Amino acid sequence: MCGIIGITSNKSVSAAIINSLRKLEYRGYDSAGIATLSNNEIFELKAEGRVDNLEKNLSISNMKGNVGIGHVRWATHGIPNNINAHPHSSDTVSVVHNGIIENSTILKKFLVSKGHNFKSQTDTEVIVHLLTEYLKTDELIVAITKTLKQLHGSFALGIIFKKQPDLLVGARRGSPLAVGYGPNENYLGSDSYALKSMTNKITYLDDGEFCLLKKDQVEFFNAYGKKINKKVLELSSNEAIYDKGDFKHFMAKEIEEQPITLKNGIREYVDNINNDINIYNFPWQISEISSIMLIGCGTAYHACLMAKYWFENLTSLDITVDIASEFRYRKNKFKPSTLYVFVSQSGETADTYAALDLCNKNNAKTCAIVNVIESSIARDSNFVLPIHCGPEIGVASTKAFLGQMLILYMMGLKLGFMNKDINKIDYVNKIKDLKKLPELISQTLLTDDKIQTVTATFNKAKGSMFLGRGFSYPIALEGALKLKELSYIHAEGYPAGEMKHGPLALIENGMPVVVLAPRDDYYKKTISNMQEVIARGAKVLLITNKSKDEVFSENIWETIEVETSNNDLLPFLLTIPLQKLAYYSALKKGYDIDKPRNLAKSVTVE
Ligand code: F6R
Repeated sequence: MCGIIGITSNKSVSAAIINSLRKLEYRGYDSAGIATLSNNEIFELKAEGRVDNLEKNLSISNMKGNVGIGHVRWATHGIPNNINAHPHSSDTVSVVHNGIIENSTILKKFLVSKGHNFKSQTDTEVIVHLLTEYLKTDELIVAITKTLKQLHGSFALGIIFKKQPDLLVGARRGSPLAVGYGPNENYLGSDSYALKSMTNKITYLDDGEFCLLKKDQVEFFNAYGKKINKKVLELSSNEAIYDKGDFKHFMAKEIEEQPITLKNGIREYVDNINNDINIYNFPWQISEISSIMLIGCGTAYHACLMAKYWFENLTSLDITVDIASEFRYRKNKFKPSTLYVFVSQSGETADTYAALDLCNKNNAKTCAIVNVIESSIARDSNFVLPIHCGPEIGVASTKAFLGQMLILYMMGLKLGFMNKDINKIDYVNKIKDLKKLPELISQTLLTDDKIQTVTATFNKAKGSMFLGRGFSYPIALEGALKLKELSYIHAEGYPAGEMKHGPLALIENGMPVVVLAPRDDYYKKTISNMQEVIARGAKVLLITNKSKDEVFSENIWETIEVETSNNDLLPFLLTIPLQKLAYYSALKKGYDIDKPRNLAKSVTVE
């Protein structure tokens, strides 16, 4: 959350900073700002709302300076307005910050007692004044180390100094930060995505480290101010995949890309000659693992929950699932025979990272399923299974969800086979079925018209429900999450069997209820639950799979049929109409689909 960019160059930097801020907007879009340094003066411009608003300010084109920092904000301390927007500056330094300073109130008291005046409601401003205070007496490196030592919480920082003409400083604890190398210029960015248009040579800062960048020099330091060496990584770069193409929104593009991304995922892991799944270099013997714990947040958590159903069917291992923000504060009993699996599109989610860190500190076996392979979660796990679905820009996760489910399903299949829980024939048949999945997704993507017509009812409703049993239950949760985050309609996902235990009281005449009832082992039970909500006035949108058998139920409002596959794979197909329902519903309401209110793509604060 929040995006940071910094550039030190032999030419003016403001246009390049604005350009990079646009790429970073998916991380936060409450407000934006930029500060540059020229002739020992710091120039600062900020605007509430999008980068567009910042760029409308005419003085931006006249902003001089060969060194500068920029920021897009996702508010934590203080409302999103001009004053609270970053950068925050004193007459000595200017700072952009991603993260939360937990002891800012105490630090502020101390600084006010020293005569410092605060302008904003942000926690960030204490960093500005601490640095200003220490720089009165200390030389630069000492002032930086002293400041960082005082801060509790998480941060990625970009800093420029009035008296240091071409210097840009970066620091990291908890929130990601990367350094990029260019010709006669160097960069700082809160992720490689922002830097990719300028360079593919990158170094990631680790927790506690800071760096000093000049246009032709990069130096790294540890938390004690001692110089260290760091590796330069080369990133693959393909700018075209960051483009919306002919689509109106990234989300629409990402939904339609799903057959291709699944094909890529299958190609990466399935050995076509031997009909086998390669989970490359799996570092343990299967006999060393007796249980698996799956951990994630939001949509990634739903993928974990889905995996629990698959893993329990495919393996004899004990499977548990947890939300990362709960797991990290639980009194966990770490066992050497448990494999902890962390699922995250960005690989930077603060809670998921903290859960991983806790496991690492307890010497647990850890595995990351991530989309961004250079991410913190990937780097700090024992073992990584990349999703291979390309950058996901829309804030609401779509193709990454299917990608996460794909990897988890293949992992469950492979572990089940390695553990002799499923036989060779079943294993090979399931792999053969899996290879047909991208085509089935393509076919299911064609069911568009009906979804567009039902959205009007959802958009008028006070609230809605999504019901499913067994394999369909995690998908019901995901469908409800997509609808609420994009179209701001109250939506609850429930196990269909739970309705009688309370939620049935919410059903009233005309309430739209999505029932996921594919023809699997739970079908008849779910249909009974569906009849109970219809009897109480619900307008049921039934989502099932194609079959020669009719659905025996009266008064179903609308039915959508997805393609048919083996039962394991139906969750992938059921997800498609739910993604589209959320998309079209938000489209009709005219909402900002790729950047829903109050949200951000990469949740790097707790
Ligand atoms: C919802 C959504 C979020 C993310 C969650 C975890 O559409 O995208 O719920 O799934 O913030 O993010 P990652 O997967 O990056 O850890």
